[in-house]
Amino acid sequence: MNTYSVARRRDLVWVNGVPVQRLFTALVPPAVVRRELAAAVAPLRGARLVPEDNLHLTLRFIGDCDAERRDRMIDALGRVRVEPFVLPVAGLGVFPSRGTAKVAWAGVGGGHTRLFQLRKQVDEALLTVDLTLDVHHFQPHFTLARLGENYDAKELARWLERRSSFEAPPFRVGEFHLLASERRDGAAPRYELVRSFALAKA
Ligand code: 2AM
Repeated sequence: MNTYSVARRRDLVWVNGVPVQRLFTALVPPAVVRRELAAAVAPLRGARLVPEDNLHLTLRFIGDCDAERRDRMIDALGRVRVEPFVLPVAGLGVFPSRGTAKVAWAGVGGGHTRLFQLRKQVDEALLTVDLTLDVHHFQPHFTLARLGENYDAKELARWLERRSSFEAPPFRVGEFHLLASERRDGAAPRYELVRSFALAKA
């Protein structure tokens, strides 16, 4: 890639003179599910809602990567072998679960074993690229809103009354994605697709 094309890429920033992308792997639900997720969080006035087009489930946040490491990751992620599966979308909650809520999310109900296999294989693939991964427990979720300081606590309490009854359509997970996040001051990040990986039988 020449310097000119790098300079024009909106998802790149420079660290120590090297262009890097802020990468993460994620599932992106179909539009019909994203619409329902966006509708579910719309009543949370005062919160910073994640734009409908940005809604995703992070499998693993990677962070800043140069092109060489990104390409090795792409090779490794291409070797992930998990069969497609159907993922429920159900339940609402906040992080942290105690104290001041910062993030409102939707869950995956009972989840699916293959979601956890996928996360594990993605991690194993990334570890072959010498990445240090934090070992936090995986709590699969779709971040719906960041709560900041201006949200209405009564509204949030009312919203959480639906926590266990909320359901959006389950969706078939046939692929996962490597995405780059472009930070934008004061605005929602812009996500750029780096590569998609189809799920398939081993
Ligand atoms: P979350 O908000 O759904 O938890 C892209 O930045 C995605 O990576 C975010 O949606 C965020 O997922 C996730 N992520 C996890 N750890 C992160 C970190 N330290 N910094 C930024 N994003 C992180």
